[in-house]
Amino acid sequence: MKFSIKTLSPETAQAGCVVVGIYQTKEFTPAARRLDQAAKGALKKALRDLSGKTGSTLLLHALPGVAAERVLLVGLGEKDTSEAAYRDALRAAANALKELDAKDAALFLVDMKIGSRPLGWNVRHAVLCVRDALYRFDQLKTQKKTSAPALQEVILPLSPKAELKNALDEANATADGTALARTLGNLPPNICTPTYLAEEAKKLAREFKLELEVLERKDMEKLGMGALLAVASASHQAPKLIVLRYEGRKGAKPVALVGKGITFDTGGISLKPAGEMDEMKFDMSGAAAVLGAVRALAGMRAPVNVIGVVPACENMPGGQATRPGDVVTTLSGQTVEILNTDAEGRLILCDALSYAERYKPDVVVDIATLTGAIVIALGHVATGLFANDEKLAGEIDAAADDAWDRVWRMPLWEDYQEQLRSNFADMANIGGRPAGSVTAASFLARFTRKMRWAHLDIAGTAWKSGREKGSTGRPVPLLVRFALRHAGRK
Ligand code: BES
Ligand code: MN
Ligand code: ZN
Repeated sequence: MKFSIKTLSPETAQAGCVVVGIYQTKEFTPAARRLDQAAKGALKKALRDLSGKTGSTLLLHALPGVAAERVLLVGLGEKDTSEAAYRDALRAAANALKELDAKDAALFLVDMKIGSRPLGWNVRHAVLCVRDALYRFDQLKTQKKTSAPALQEVILPLSPKAELKNALDEANATADGTALARTLGNLPPNICTPTYLAEEAKKLAREFKLELEVLERKDMEKLGMGALLAVASASHQAPKLIVLRYEGRKGAKPVALVGKGITFDTGGISLKPAGEMDEMKFDMSGAAAVLGAVRALAGMRAPVNVIGVVPACENMPGGQATRPGDVVTTLSGQTVEILNTDAEGRLILCDALSYAERYKPDVVVDIATLTGAIVIALGHVATGLFANDEKLAGEIDAAADDAWDRVWRMPLWEDYQEQLRSNFADMANIGGRPAGSVTAASFLARFTRKMRWAHLDIAGTAWKSGREKGSTGRPVPLLVRFALRHAGRK
């Protein structure tokens, strides 16, 4: 899908479809008004069949005085369009467009004033929402959907300015990174193994000239990554620790992104119940988001340094499996009593976070489908944000808002640490039922004391269940926006 910015007027645009907005009050946006004038009131007549509620659509054909083959009217709801309504309207437009036999479309929704957002914001969200709606994952179906969408180009009718061109480049690359994360998440666990993730990193390294290191089991043994190895111990899949580096700003300290890469989480000996266990293929969504964000930043040649660190393995039961009660020594030297083998994410992350410290990052952000408890707390709307640094928390919060990939701050007070007490080791790997996502974060906090660190618990936001089961690609848009803003880009 190609997006371009061009100066166009709605009535003369030679496109398969022209998309314009209508308010719930049946008022026209300026582009709709021009079309209506050119078509001698044809739009006004058609409005009887359109509610104008956000996301409602009506398709008109061959209007007199209009060059485009089709006109798609999209409801915008109340005047003073909100950010959410703008995004809903874009998604509705994209869903309607993908059913049409139109090769190109001019999206006249992009020039709307959305609060105090600059036009670049509109451009970014237009590209991301449309690409999101057009994403497909059918590579494992023998009967591909017979009619792939005809749509090949979306024109954003704006006057081309450097600032908008930058926004477009950023959005295209972010959409590519998000699609990569979604596909990695959607791939089944018999295909998307730790080795597959390492191969994928290799491909990225080749395509974007990135530096890549992959630590194998023997390397982890030599280093003393006892926690990561304990999780990987019963799997026939070789564990990998992937380190992918993009340098777009020589000399600057990097942003480290650490992503949980459990390619399947059975729970281990503390076995999970059978229902919906298939969804534990999404337990590598943090890893997918890291690879997606690195791809996006490298793809747009962003002036940032970023290091993606991905501990990848599979959590299986078996004769070699870690037992509840086992005590392991982490890379940091601290010991952990593993009381529940299903609390494995924190075990692979603690070693990966200690490893990331070697790169002397400016800040480190880990991304993990860490706890069911965060789904209870925040549902599927907000990602849980934990941080040991106020400024970093504020930056992530602002980036999340900007990317409409929202987070909600959770506490990380020392008071929670006592829940991790162990009689036999420096700490236990679980803290009991109360505040499950906070104690998980508190565990990680013991390994990041020397760094400015934030933790994103994406267990509720990385994928959808039910009929629409599939990866969302979150929080790639947030990570990209954060890295850019952190480097001073608006
Ligand atoms: N990957 C899961 C978290 C998860 C569970 C995400 C369900 C989304 C839906 C994680 O490894 C896990 O099993 N966490 C346990 C921790 C518990 C044993 C302390 C959990 O949340 O139940
Ligand atoms: Mn688990
Ligand atoms: Zn897990």
